[in-house]
Amino acid sequence: MSQARAVKEILAGMPTSDGAGVKLTRVIGQPRLRNLDPFLMLDRFHSDDPNAYIAGFPTHPHRGFETVTVMLNGRMRHEDSRGNKGLIQGGGVQWMTAGRGILHSEMPEQDRGLMSGFQLWINLPKEEKMCDPFYQDLQPEALAAPGAAPIKTTDLDGKGAARVVSGDLFGVHGPVRNRAAEPLLAHVVLQAGHKIDVPTPVGHTAFFFVNEGSVKIGEKLIKRAEIALLDAGERIVLEAGDQGAQLLLAAAKPFGEPIVQHGPFVMTTAEEIDRAIYDYRRGTLGRD
Ligand code: FE2
Repeated sequence: MSQARAVKEILAGMPTSDGAGVKLTRVIGQPRLRNLDPFLMLDRFHSDDPNAYIAGFPTHPHRGFETVTVMLNGRMRHEDSRGNKGLIQGGGVQWMTAGRGILHSEMPEQDRGLMSGFQLWINLPKEEKMCDPFYQDLQPEALAAPGAAPIKTTDLDGKGAARVVSGDLFGVHGPVRNRAAEPLLAHVVLQAGHKIDVPTPVGHTAFFFVNEGSVKIGEKLIKRAEIALLDAGERIVLEAGDQGAQLLLAAAKPFGEPIVQHGPFVMTTAEEIDRAIYDYRRGTLGRD
């Protein structure tokens, strides 16, 4: 019997705002959970009040890590300094590797209705922090262009569904591949009482965030809007609570390197941060 991961800690997110005033809940990156190597930030946004999201995220820089935007509801337009443009919407994901630098904007393409989803930041190892930036817009099956790898919805024995963004889950290989942290990332919906058993490399950091409903692991109950940090182990075994569960499930390899963060720049030394600020101020970050 391989070892199932126990719950190490359960935390609620912290309400905050970012960008030009978008209201969101910071789950990873808040004072009680600065980071969770290799995860640097997890924000949840969820509102049907346009005032909570309409200002969006006007042009801003990033260096040294990857940003992953998982859209559940709503439409967000992305444009960046390398000429990329894209629209992500319900069921879609944008995976952006900032590498040595990118300037981008993320703006809502709606002025009413529900906007809901997540942004997750995943670190890059020191030797890849200055890599070429690139991004991938991944659409759900119904919207994917011919030949493009979509985010498929996989039925779980008629008792749930999973959308795998990266890594392997239930025999599905997510479309995002060959990332340094070897991430598993999936959005999973389960009916009440349905149990899943997910193998994970033993040393990988693992967590899940309960977006709706609740989740049980052993005697622990993780409620809506809580994150569960998991101990080391070979499998994640969890069961949906009485109202079912909708969750974001993630695991990835920690790098064990220093994390020096200054807003949207995440490097391993203060000197590298100074360099990022210098490059941004003189206008070369995101343009070389
Ligand atoms: Fe951004």
